[in-house]
Amino acid sequence: MGTPLRVLIVEDSEDDALLLLRELRRGGYAPLHERVCTAASMAAALERDWDVVVSDFNMPDFDGPAALKVLQRKGLDVPFILVSGKIGEEVAVSAMKAGASDFVPKDNLRRLVPVIERELRDAENRRQRRLAEDRLRSSERSLRNVVTNNADGMVILDKQGKTLFMNPAAEALFGRQGTGAPGLFGVPIGARNPIELDIVTGNGERAWAEVRAAATEWEGEPVYLVTLRDVTERKRAEEERRHLTRRLVEVQEEERRSIARELHDQTGQLLTGIRMLLDRASRSPDTCLHLIGEAQTVAAELIDQVRHMSFQLRPSTLDDLGLVPTLLMHFERFAKQTQVQVDFQRDQLPYLPADISTAIYRIVQEALTNVARHAGVRRATVCIWNHNEAVCVEVSDRGNGFSEGGVRSSNGLSGMRERARLLGGKLTVESAPGAGTRVCAEIPLPKATQLRAEDSVGSE
Ligand SMILES: Nc1ncnc2c1ncn2[C@@H]1O[C@H](COP(=O)(O)OP(=O)(O)OP(=O)(O)O)[C@@H](O)[C@H]1O
Ligand SMILES: [Mg+2]
Repeated sequence: MGTPLRVLIVEDSEDDALLLLRELRRGGYAPLHERVCTAASMAAALERDWDVVVSDFNMPDFDGPAALKVLQRKGLDVPFILVSGKIGEEVAVSAMKAGASDFVPKDNLRRLVPVIERELRDAENRRQRRLAEDRLRSSERSLRNVVTNNADGMVILDKQGKTLFMNPAAEALFGRQGTGAPGLFGVPIGARNPIELDIVTGNGERAWAEVRAAATEWEGEPVYLVTLRDVTERKRAEEERRHLTRRLVEVQEEERRSIARELHDQTGQLLTGIRMLLDRASRSPDTCLHLIGEAQTVAAELIDQVRHMSFQLRPSTLDDLGLVPTLLMHFERFAKQTQVQVDFQRDQLPYLPADISTAIYRIVQEALTNVARHAGVRRATVCIWNHNEAVCVEVSDRGNGFSEGGVRSSNGLSGMRERARLLGGKLTVESAPGAGTRVCAEIPLPKATQLRAEDSVGSE
């Protein structure tokens, strides 16, 4: 059994075609053929797959060069061999130039099989090369995608430190022109741990990056690959946290000082007063009752004061009654102290864990203090609602407002932000001069939080 060969024969003479087939069989092939002799029938036949096209040169309604064009118009890489009687050498050369694979004279058909073998080998080589090129192009595309979409910046530097390539993440850091690209900056080549660098971005801002460098090759030349991870956000958060921790210690000390002062100046004096009144009562039976009455009044004042102090430190109602009643008490006291009335709107709240209700209480307290101190209005609104398994609280006013640039370094806003962040939430502040202020905190509720009327005691 010969080697199968799909051969399209372009030939008007059936006898000549039979001669071709005989030659192919003699050469060890089992040809599977079709004979055509017009452009239309050839084009139709080319819809199927062929290993080789063997074409006569002169036919009544067709010719070799026209058949070659039909094949080329289809864009097929199939060997095209001219088999003909006498055609001049020049005609044969011009057919080869036009793209025919070879020319075999009809009176020397023995050459046909070796020519076909060679052409099939060449065609197979071309197919393999095309496949390899396709694979290479696809792997280049994949690599380019990885580099383009990498969140880390990648910079290729030549040995002189000149930037040869930057991916989009690096361009975002240094600007498209790469002005201020880091060079190597003394980053040790191939070090296991990255170096943290303070860099200036393309638009002149300060940023932080973790930088690594490796020696590699780029288009056949030795180069350095510098990888940069933008850690500016993390560094800022760390700086802010350090500042807040320092501030927390200061606030603790301030609070202790104020409690000590209060205990000494107020509680201590009132207790001294009571003791003196009781001493005098024990020495003078005549005025005893009157003095005890005075001592009772001072004791009542003392009880009020201790209650006030304890509420300031941490309202026990937060644990006993829940968030809403504690807020209502705060609004009442706040209105008496500052003349600022609070409009309060709220949803039915689920049960809130102590850390969340404390955070909300403190955020509302600070935001309202800001209204009283900075907004210059007599009304503020507080809203609390549930949204997407989170509890949201908003404190707004229609007062002075402020611009971000105009804010001096302070602790109120950053403290509120930190409280929300510590519980996995976030705090946004919207304000503009003359347009009021809106502080909104969103704090996610833990999964196990069940819907139960947290504020059913007294406030509903
Ligand atoms: N409701 C508001 N209306 C107008 N300005 C406000 C309001 N809230 C905040 N601000 C502005 O923002 C600044 C920062 O507020 P923040 O609470 O952080 O600091 P503070 O109130 O000045 O001081 P503290 O650290 O004691 O709270 C304020 O100084 C003020 O200029
Ligand atoms: Mg404040």
